[in-house]
Amino acid sequence: MKRCLLVLLLSGLAHARPAPSTLIANIPGRTTMSLNGAWHAIVDPFDNGKGTFFRDEKPRSKSDRVEYSFDASPVLNVPGDWNTQREALMFYEGPVWYRREFSYHKRTSTRAFVYFGAVNYQATVYLNGEKLGEHEGGFTAFNFEATSVLREGTNTLVVEVNNVRRVDAVPTLKFDWWNYGGITRDVALVEAPSIFIQDYSVQLTRGSQTEVDGWVQLNGAPSGQKVTVEIPEAGARETSAVDGAGRANFHFAAKLDLWSPAHPKLYDVVLTSGADTIHDQIGFRTIEVQGPNILLNGKPIFLRGISMHEEAPFRGGRAFSPEDAQTLLGWVKDLGCNFVRFAHYPHNENEIRLADRIGLLVWSEIPVYWDIDWANPATLANAEAQLRDEIARDHNRAAVILWSLSNETPVKPERLAFLKQLAQDARELDSTRLITSAMNHVEDTGSDVRTISDPLGEVVDVLALNEYLGWYWGRPEDADKMQWKSNWNKPLIVSEFGGGAVYGRHGDADEIWTEEYQDNLYQHQLAMVERMPNLAGLTPWVLMDFRSPARMLPGVQDYHNRKGLISNRGQRKIAFYTLQRFYKKLAEAGK
Ligand code: GCU
Repeated sequence: MKRCLLVLLLSGLAHARPAPSTLIANIPGRTTMSLNGAWHAIVDPFDNGKGTFFRDEKPRSKSDRVEYSFDASPVLNVPGDWNTQREALMFYEGPVWYRREFSYHKRTSTRAFVYFGAVNYQATVYLNGEKLGEHEGGFTAFNFEATSVLREGTNTLVVEVNNVRRVDAVPTLKFDWWNYGGITRDVALVEAPSIFIQDYSVQLTRGSQTEVDGWVQLNGAPSGQKVTVEIPEAGARETSAVDGAGRANFHFAAKLDLWSPAHPKLYDVVLTSGADTIHDQIGFRTIEVQGPNILLNGKPIFLRGISMHEEAPFRGGRAFSPEDAQTLLGWVKDLGCNFVRFAHYPHNENEIRLADRIGLLVWSEIPVYWDIDWANPATLANAEAQLRDEIARDHNRAAVILWSLSNETPVKPERLAFLKQLAQDARELDSTRLITSAMNHVEDTGSDVRTISDPLGEVVDVLALNEYLGWYWGRPEDADKMQWKSNWNKPLIVSEFGGGAVYGRHGDADEIWTEEYQDNLYQHQLAMVERMPNLAGLTPWVLMDFRSPARMLPGVQDYHNRKGLISNRGQRKIAFYTLQRFYKKLAEAGK
């Protein structure tokens, strides 16, 4: 079976495409009832609750034997990972059952959906004892229709969450971040009229700064139903009718202020159809490549960036709130960045929407990380679904310019076939953005010469290289004489370089784990990258120290990756200022 998937992909013969996303667009712009808060939770290491706990039974008489009770179980906060809420759960991987009761008043010609911003890793959702559905993937949003299951009055929502790692999963068994489990992002009950706007795209036509292209997908609409798209501030308004599949396309001229990091202009865009009206804040910009350059609004741009995990500053754990986003992206701005790499999975919508508002270009990535089960059709379908839902949530965000398909994956045929398929999917789902992947395969083509030759370079629009010269290989000074070559005349982003340091540990520049060692490495790296071919951007590894099970050195790492320029307590290391000065110099030079 596995072998034939490879043959199928390599031969380009059709394979089962993922179903269209069922995600409802623009949840922030919809009427919702938040289901965040304290949920009773049962930690169930042996999954004994399967087939039982979803009923949330209560003893009906004094002799009735019910061997579990949500009411009597302690609570876990939602959103939030369970690991940082209870010491006993810091290392826990397994099933946890969550229950939330809420009261609801049913209304006519109104549909309702239960929406999850993200649940790590596997979620099975029940409402009033009925299964609504299952979802796999810890970093993408999903929703299930609940209209027919909802009751007048008290309703019971039960979610089984399981973050057990599997070889065929995405990500697979090993990764360099903490496997935070739980309902890690917002949960809401979303209401919409019986015929509603499921999804839409409103953006500048590729290569044009004055023409708008768009589409609207209605849910439940008869053919011919009218839809209107309006940009009041630009005096633009267009009405069209949906086809039999509920879809309407638009093309109209509009005089718009273009979005850019220096001028993050967002327009109120109003979409109306029947009883449904939604507002969204959308920026208009073009992004493309031209030879070795990345062009934003037709002009070459240098991406002054940093990589970051979705780790909460100060308290640790999975970040989720607008305040977390404010702190983290505030630090990114303080560094002098116009760009940020959200590694290695789609980050929460608060971060994406803040990047839109404050003017930060975004690299978004799915967790196809290191060596996954490439030849397994289920693994491909899983990765495709995560890509589809990432794009479904963020395709109207001007800030997002790059879809990254993978990170540090080994060069082998089944991997290339897998990633080629994802690239094709991404281009079909969104033809307006650029495709990249973080590669770490380089050829040693002479002493002090390295060539970027990964065959994946052929597939992507923008090359990206993770290189750890001065940390995992060589010494920081070796960067001074290193020459880099590339097999492609394509823009290059150095998507990772860096070294670990404990905040407050000082010593000579060659004393590992000191701030001086890290800073020395940065100094040599920054001089080296300026000599690299077609350099169009940088996202050093990493903004802030983050928790990782792979980092066990006591008194130094203590289960944290220490390559941050800022400690997990918000303390800036020397190298933070070195990169800040470097970006200031570039910005002053108009880069
Ligand atoms: C890798 C990887 C990161 C990891 C980093 C490191 O390149 O992409 O996820 O944390 O290196 O080793 O610190």
